[in-house]
Amino acid sequence: MKSYHITTLNDFIIQKQKDFPYAKGELSSLLHHIGIAAKMVNKKINKAGLIDIIGRSGDINIHGEDQQKLDVFADEVFISALLSSGECCGVATEENENEIVFSDSFATEGKYIVCMDPLDGSSNIDYNVSVGSIFSIYRRLTPRGEKVRNEDFLQAGSEQVAAGYIVYGSSTMLVYSTGNGVNGFTLDPSIGEFCLSHPDIKTPKDGHIYSVNEGNYIHFPEGVKKYIKFCQEIDKKSGRPYSSRYIGSLVSDFHRNLLKGGIFLYPENETAPIGKLRLVYECNPIAFIALQAGGVASNGTSDILEITPKSLHQRSPFYVGSENMVNKIKSFLVPTKLTR
Ligand code: AHG
Ligand code: MN
Ligand code: MN
Repeated sequence: MKSYHITTLNDFIIQKQKDFPYAKGELSSLLHHIGIAAKMVNKKINKAGLIDIIGRSGDINIHGEDQQKLDVFADEVFISALLSSGECCGVATEENENEIVFSDSFATEGKYIVCMDPLDGSSNIDYNVSVGSIFSIYRRLTPRGEKVRNEDFLQAGSEQVAAGYIVYGSSTMLVYSTGNGVNGFTLDPSIGEFCLSHPDIKTPKDGHIYSVNEGNYIHFPEGVKKYIKFCQEIDKKSGRPYSSRYIGSLVSDFHRNLLKGGIFLYPENETAPIGKLRLVYECNPIAFIALQAGGVASNGTSDILEITPKSLHQRSPFYVGSENMVNKIKSFLVPTKLTR
């Protein structure tokens, strides 16, 4: 008999809950609600262009960037889903200057806080280029029953209990880790379920793809310029230079490199002196996934996950991907010690 066995995201979450002897299902419920919100955002993205969901919302976000309608929609959907899970006591997102404190008694008992980039790659929405959503989950530091405070959201990335992203691309995938490896689920629209499609993702130690906005080349630090030239030389093993691939959506660029091998760089540059990407809800969750898959994530001198954020929207230079590639660029960035 032909087997039609599929493992849905919920099957998998419940199966994996058994890995945590003291788990009572709170994290499972939180992940389940994130999955529901992802399906709701996916539905809107798939109709973008047909319904009034593309284009600017007319508002400017706290970063001074034009807020897209889909940024606002995704933000509202994920916040509502996290509130209704009853396991989350507060959320920090790219679209809100301060953390959102859930004040009903149900939510203040929540054990977890979530940091999110509800829609990553917004500048691509109106042109049908793939975008994503990024989430990062921590245990709260403040006592349950009290309202969540800013300090709950400023934990080092190494304290994450789970992180993941959704990539709304040629297919829609949800990729996440709870610290025991990385697994990918592809949305089957015919049954409305995320189904396990990429079990136990490991990223190759080497790759031939480098992803960077070369339009900023003249503003890059010398070490980055040297690394980009290194990528463009003939690689001895393959007999050809690396390929340059850059979509302009962190989630999409990272996801391709995670599976194929490669490095994503968003260096500091004269226009963005400490880089553009936000540590709390872009770099940390992506770094958590990268490390769980055997990759490396750095700000050029320190491991991303070891940095303790000072503010919610703090930016960081970001180098992430295949271990040998990130270590190679780090050797270009650390000034070589003068040998006496
Ligand atoms: P967001 O849409 O959430 O603001 O993120 C956009 C980020 C990231 O997705 C992407 O890698 C980067 O901006 C692209 O920046 P440049 O256009 O400066 O290359
Ligand atoms: Mn983003
Ligand atoms: Mn965003």
